[in-house]
Amino acid sequence: MPVRGQGPAGFEAVGSVAVRTFAAHQSSGPQAAGTAHQSMDGHHVNAMAGDGSGAPHNHFADYDELPEGHFYDPDAEYEPDPEYAATLAPDAARQRRERVGPTGRPLPYFPIPGPLTDHGPAKIIAMCNQKGGVGKTTSTINLGAALAEYGRRVLLVDFDPQGALSVGLGVNPMELDLTVYNLLMERGMSADEVLLKTAVPNMDLLPSNIDLSAAEVQLVSEVARESTLQRALKPLLPDYDYIVIDCQPSLGLLTVNALTAAHKVIVPLECEFFALRGVALLTETIEKVQERLNPELELDGILATMYDSRTVHSREVLARVVEAFDDHVYHTVIGRTVRFPETTVAGEPITTYASNSVGAAAYRQLAREVLARCHAE
Ligand SMILES: Nc1ncnc2c1ncn2[C@@H]1O[C@H](COP(=O)(O)OP(=O)(O)OP(=O)(O)O)[C@@H](O)[C@H]1O
Ligand SMILES: [Mg+2]
Repeated sequence: MPVRGQGPAGFEAVGSVAVRTFAAHQSSGPQAAGTAHQSMDGHHVNAMAGDGSGAPHNHFADYDELPEGHFYDPDAEYEPDPEYAATLAPDAARQRRERVGPTGRPLPYFPIPGPLTDHGPAKIIAMCNQKGGVGKTTSTINLGAALAEYGRRVLLVDFDPQGALSVGLGVNPMELDLTVYNLLMERGMSADEVLLKTAVPNMDLLPSNIDLSAAEVQLVSEVARESTLQRALKPLLPDYDYIVIDCQPSLGLLTVNALTAAHKVIVPLECEFFALRGVALLTETIEKVQERLNPELELDGILATMYDSRTVHSREVLARVVEAFDDHVYHTVIGRTVRFPETTVAGEPITTYASNSVGAAAYRQLAREVLARCHAE
């Protein structure tokens, strides 16, 4: 669909959240939406300018969902809607004055990435935390989908025998004949035989199922067992810009394989009391892999997930995470919303399932922050 050059319809205040109107956004699919973002770089709007009365706009009651033709712009100069701001910022007034992000640091502007003329070689990112249920799979799907929206070619690797990533993309793991397991264990198996196209343009999947649990045992007797995944992914590097590996919740041989293959690690941390427990062991494992197997490996960032600043607890945990990891913590924080469990049932990323939701905007911002970090190198 030709969208470039048509330009956005304009800017509007919805509630008191700054949004941009773009009529084609809903119907033109994720790729076109990405292009639309690009054509609007640099425009800001102060939504409180609204009707000039200073009265709250109330024609938008459910702040989790923007009306058709509108999408939330995390970079707009906006007066935060009190309800939404409450989930992300401890002090809306302070955030308004200083543009302080939820991590308590000034929020930088992450530019909208320009289109690419050629692709590859891919940067490999491992989404890793041995703690279960912290948002690894959710972040893999949605970061991948957001990068794909921005025109990056993305391959997602399901490296968990549970197959949650595959399920989250609408694939039934039980029905698969060939999975990442076959790619790892069978010499001569080509990735093309295993690869699946997802419903998201620019995004492919190497699926997995319970077969992969056998690999953990079988790999033990292999030569160079830690670099099996690295070897399997090597022929794919020229075809993609980003490969994101969804690790299982353990620090076993499969996860070590993911870390050995990766250039970067993203560690999702759920904003709850035991979040930091086990992180020392994880960073130690990353350092060991760095020293012994993969000197290129770097911690790209810590991603705070399931954050809700309406609870003192969430705010305290986030403050402690920032205290411990400082600039390693992404400015982007993922709020807690039921929209994410819903997307798993729907079998698609939030960027397509609820394209205008705050959750989708958060993962788009994360994609831009990740791209900005990569380009800063
Ligand atoms: N920001 C969020 N807000 C609310 N629920 C979330 C959020 N992110 C993830 N969830 C939900 O929390 C559950 C665990 O998330 P997810 O599967 O992404 O974690 P995981 O780290 O991959 O888990 P595992 O270690 O079992 O692989 C899922 O039901 C998911 O839908
Ligand atoms: Mg998972």
